[in-house]
Amino acid sequence: MSHHSNESGNSRRITTNQLGPHEKIPQLVNRHLANTSQKPFNQHTMEAFKQVVAWRDKIDPTAARPLIFDSCCGVGESTARIAERFPDALVVGIDKSELRTLKHDHYAQNTANYMVVRADVNDFWRLAHQANWQLAQHFLLYPNPYPKSAHVQRRWHACAAFKDIILLGGCLEVRSNWDMYVQEFAIALQTAGFPATTKEYSGAKADTPFERKYWASGQQSWRVTCQLSPLDQ
Ligand SMILES: C[S@@+](CC[C@H](N)C(=O)[O-])C[C@H]1O[C@@H](n2cnc3c(N)ncnc32)[C@H](O)[C@@H]1O
Repeated sequence: MSHHSNESGNSRRITTNQLGPHEKIPQLVNRHLANTSQKPFNQHTMEAFKQVVAWRDKIDPTAARPLIFDSCCGVGESTARIAERFPDALVVGIDKSELRTLKHDHYAQNTANYMVVRADVNDFWRLAHQANWQLAQHFLLYPNPYPKSAHVQRRWHACAAFKDIILLGGCLEVRSNWDMYVQEFAIALQTAGFPATTKEYSGAKADTPFERKYWASGQQSWRVTCQLSPLDQ
């Protein structure tokens, strides 16, 4: 997938050598759910998490407000919109690309209930779960698809981090321009014991630069939603 965020209508459609949802998804999910990652945390993500903890402690010391993650938020346009839509909530936009998070100023909204940080979600999700954070909502908008069959384990629903997505709970919403990604995500959620709904998605106005680019190129979006309740560990 191109990393040049070009908003004109020339985004190429996903091409893949996969004929249907990858048949290993249930097996991969079960394996990942049975394991707990022991990997050391990345330093800059630990610092980013501390920053978010300090921010949350300051504006919501009793942790009473609903918490929303906008994971892989890119420039954080959606983060600002979600924060406007849910003024009672605290919204954290997370992306590993500093190139993108530094552009956020351009998309910023004048509300104090959100924050955009540069961090790796693999570590950020695990840190948040270890701190016993529970989400009210979790957005994952247009994650990198890794359409090659051999790269299936790089997709969020087929890698170790999927367990933390589940454990963080909340109402999960994933969008993609690749229908197969959304179908596979639903299979993974069902394997973990959570019924999921997939549907074509459209809106009056795009929520993110990638969404805008796909729609301008005549591509449609797909969405999977799921209510995650905490698992017994
Ligand atoms: C296709 S872009 C979508 C960005 C944004 N949600 C949008 O729709 O405009 C995928 C984003 O995922 C981010 N990303 C990929 N792996 C990540 C990781 N491990 N941690 C945090 N962000 C990651 C990339 O930096 C990129 O900004």
